[in-house]
Amino acid sequence: MEDNLPVNVWEYQELAKKALPKMHYDYINGGAEDEYTLRENIAAYGRILLRPRVLIDVSKIDMSTTLLGYNMPSPIIVAPTGSHKLANPEGEVATARAAAACKTIMVLSFSSNCKIEEVASSCDAVRFYQLYVYKRRDVSATLVRRAESLGFKARRAESLGFKAIVLTVDTPVLGRREADIRNRMVFPLSPNFEGLMSFDDEPGTEGGSKMERFARETLDPSLSWKDVEWLKSITSLPILLKGIVTAEDARKAVDAGAAGVIVSNHGARQLDYAPPTISVLEEVVKAVAGAVPVMVDGGVRRGTDVFKALALGAKAVMVGRPVFYGLAARGEAGARHVIEMMNRELEVAMALCGCRSVAEVTRRHVLTEGDRI
Ligand code: FNR
Repeated sequence: MEDNLPVNVWEYQELAKKALPKMHYDYINGGAEDEYTLRENIAAYGRILLRPRVLIDVSKIDMSTTLLGYNMPSPIIVAPTGSHKLANPEGEVATARAAAACKTIMVLSFSSNCKIEEVASSCDAVRFYQLYVYKRRDVSATLVRRAESLGFKARRAESLGFKAIVLTVDTPVLGRREADIRNRMVFPLSPNFEGLMSFDDEPGTEGGSKMERFARETLDPSLSWKDVEWLKSITSLPILLKGIVTAEDARKAVDAGAAGVIVSNHGARQLDYAPPTISVLEEVVKAVAGAVPVMVDGGVRRGTDVFKALALGAKAVMVGRPVFYGLAARGEAGARHVIEMMNRELEVAMALCGCRSVAEVTRRHVLTEGDRI
């Protein structure tokens, strides 16, 4: 064991800040515009209190759950975040190994720095593939087929390859992340696009960062519910919709045949003043009414946050920046440690709330601001 290992996500964030060039730390850490939603994603968890229950035998805590039929030892999975080589030279392969060591699901970003084939063959694990539907539908379609065929070619069909598509629906245009604009953030092109798409590599000038120009050329502002239909027509993988924060859209997602809904504001990187995700989770869960699993991400930094999300109806939570911090600070071992620490925190929170399984975590275990009025 190394000495002086960080004991929580905040300490990993500090280490990441020291380890990374400012431009890259700002890219990972930053949010859109005033960063109101960025602060609120975390602050809103702080306004929810727990209701501990006592004198319950908690000598055995089972945090396991299932998602789309896959077993996981805990409800914490890895959110899709782009460009892991900014944090570590092994990039998404290191993250994939960390997630696999924790037996949890990693959602691989469409903007990854490692090829999907390389990630798929790096280790045995159930993984999901995050998709942007680009203006160039053929590029998106090709990546979906590649992800799907890796699943079919897997030595052990149940463990290798990509088992679901996570379609990100909150990014028809790129949010204004002012740190990236100021830093003229250079966004590395994913090797997955080699041979499919090229991009002029001029350094960013006036009018925004190179990253913004890339987004303008690729992202499709005409994205609509018809594209969900289109995606369904080209893949047999289940499709989860990521970036839903209202009951209206949650109902539409279910009607459109989504296999799951992910309550997300993209880690506050898209629309500033969008609500913190934990504050709208219950609304979405009610609208979905058990038809499909609901997940949530944004601001989860503690096992107690995970507990709160479960109590408000989430089937699982995704963590983005914490894993990135771990990767930046200590590579694969750091990413793994972050997940393990949060698992341990969740275990303690469950024990102290008298919950021996995730099924025992209920709405009665939390007090929201609404409850206290
Ligand atoms: C992201 N996120 C993201 N989402 C997505 O669908 N595709 C992507 O490529 C990325 N890339 C990305 C990069 C970085 C550096 C960050 C921080 C985030 C959003 C991500 O999936 C998730 O919604 C948030 O990160 C969750 O919030 P926390 O856990 O970071 O607070």
